[in-house]
Amino acid sequence: MLKKRPYAGKGLTMFRRSSPFRPFLVLSLFALLASPVLRHAAQAETTGTPLSPPAGYKPEKKIVRLWNSKCATCHGEDGRGHTEQGKEMGIDDMTKAAYWKDVTVERGRKTVLEGLKRTLNGKEQEMKPFGDRLTPQQVDALNLYAVSFFKK
Ligand code: HEC
Repeated sequence: MLKKRPYAGKGLTMFRRSSPFRPFLVLSLFALLASPVLRHAAQAETTGTPLSPPAGYKPEKKIVRLWNSKCATCHGEDGRGHTEQGKEMGIDDMTKAAYWKDVTVERGRKTVLEGLKRTLNGKEQEMKPFGDRLTPQQVDALNLYAVSFFKK
């Protein structure tokens, strides 16, 4: 005996409003479209966006000025940390690849906005939070400038 196959051979019948398959089709279509977005979001959380300036990067003048006025007291105008406070706190050299090994766009933004306080190799290190003075966009631009001190 032949089983009844109500949708066999009827092409797009399964997409019809009355079709019992319709909710599944809609759901799976949604999942298919959303998965790359969701996967991307999950990745951003665990690994973050690599921090590196685009080829031919040239900082805006106002970012250089901002760096020199707000960040250079510790990190130095050239990012090497050869400043009084830099030496006192044992601030590392931003022109070295090692400095940026674990710093993503997100982490760098968070650290600068929220500040940092820790003891490393017996030295007290502190960066005050800039969240009340700088926007996240300014911080991102400053960090891009900072990572540009490291030349491959
Ligand atoms: C009072 C001193 C001080 C000032 C001013 C300062 N920093 Fe820092 N910053 C530190 C210290 C200390 C660290 C951690 C130790 C190190 O860099 O070796 C640090 C770390 C960082 C890092 C690495 C973040 C991470 O997650 O590892 C970035 C990026 C950074 N600073 C950017 C900036 C920017 C941008 C400014 C200006 C808006 C700024 N800093 C101003 C002291 C300072």
